[in-house]
Amino acid sequence: MQNTYDTMIPVETGQDLSYFIRLENDFQALSDAVTSLGKPYARIAIITDSNVAPLYLKEAERALSGTGAAVSSLVLPAGEEHKNLDSIDNIYQFLIDQQLDRNDLLAALGGGVIGDMTGFAAATYLRGIDFIQLPTTLLADVDSSIGGKTGVDYHSYKNMVGAFKQPRLVYMNLSVLRSLPERQFSTGMAEIIKHACIMDEEYLTFLEANQARIWGMDPDCLLPMIRQSLLIKKKVVEEDPTEKGIRAILNFGHTLGHALEKESGFTLTHGEGVSLGTCGALFISHEKGLLSKEDCLRVEWLLQAYHLPVRYQDFSTEQVLAATLHDKKRSGKSLRFILLDRLGQARIDTSVTQEEMRGALEYLKAE
Ligand SMILES: NC(=O)c1ccc[n+]([C@@H]2O[C@H](COP(=O)([O-])OP(=O)(O)OC[C@H]3O[C@@H](n4cnc5c(N)ncnc54)[C@H](O)[C@@H]3O)[C@@H](O)[C@H]2O)c1
Repeated sequence: MQNTYDTMIPVETGQDLSYFIRLENDFQALSDAVTSLGKPYARIAIITDSNVAPLYLKEAERALSGTGAAVSSLVLPAGEEHKNLDSIDNIYQFLIDQQLDRNDLLAALGGGVIGDMTGFAAATYLRGIDFIQLPTTLLADVDSSIGGKTGVDYHSYKNMVGAFKQPRLVYMNLSVLRSLPERQFSTGMAEIIKHACIMDEEYLTFLEANQARIWGMDPDCLLPMIRQSLLIKKKVVEEDPTEKGIRAILNFGHTLGHALEKESGFTLTHGEGVSLGTCGALFISHEKGLLSKEDCLRVEWLLQAYHLPVRYQDFSTEQVLAATLHDKKRSGKSLRFILLDRLGQARIDTSVTQEEMRGALEYLKAE
């Protein structure tokens, strides 16, 4: 891992769509960061949730008022169950009430749920309006706030309705992670371990060696960790901004993970589903002769060290398989499963059979 910790990371996604990710420890530089976008926004609407609002909304409002814009805020109920079109309806109505026009700005203050919904509203309100991400969860820091995927769930279908929409800025105040419940911190760690598995074995060693400091929220450890994950995600999304090819490797652990998350009725968090899906993908990689048993166990041990599940009994194998295959049918393509050639190197594989997936799911059930 690099030892220089730049706190500004540029993301290039096409000529007009480039933006900076800022890694900070407070909201002090937010006003200047928005001003330097070069657009004099007259109105800024903050969208946040009912858990984040009492903690950070005032600070964010104060910081954004420093741009000279009139700042208003909408607080939505927290939780994945509210990531739906009803909430989008509420956002549209709020923006109309506040008379936001195409020259104004939306700000997503929250985790992936708020980021995905605000981004989707920004993509569609008045055929597109600028937005910035102010992520407050570890998962949003390292995953959902960058890359431009936005959207909502539709009935029981996760992320069924959405759009690609790049933010103008991603501003991370890492100090807000201190109030994050432990389970939510772990869910972010699942994506971080995924990044190490698909691209960087040295990063895996870092995560093994620095557990106590990471759990202790040591800023000297959190900053390089989040930065390394961002650099990995940035590299992939810059190469493939709209997921036509290589970006699929970011779905490592997600094929079975999403299906398990859904089958649990979302009692598993996204990261918990990904953790289980990762174990399934490691198992298939091993069965195909790509990965040693020791390497599989090494990753499973790391997931457990960050309080993530590696075994799970409470699901029907056939239903999870059906959910996975349903996703495949929907995309109209053969199932692109992400496997590891070795730790730190992923491959897109279209040869994984239903039988192999069934084997992986049974493996997850083993005591
Ligand atoms: N767009 C993408 O590329 C992408 C990638 C991965 C995941 N996602 C989506 O992200 C969502 C999951 O995001 P998440 O894990 O951040 O969940 P979340 O947004 O629901 O946040 C988790 C919980 O933590 C609370 N919270 C947020 N910040 C807090 C803080 N600083 N202190 C205390 N509590 C805080 C929230 O209110 C919520 O209850 C899913 O909907 C998933 O589909 C999107």
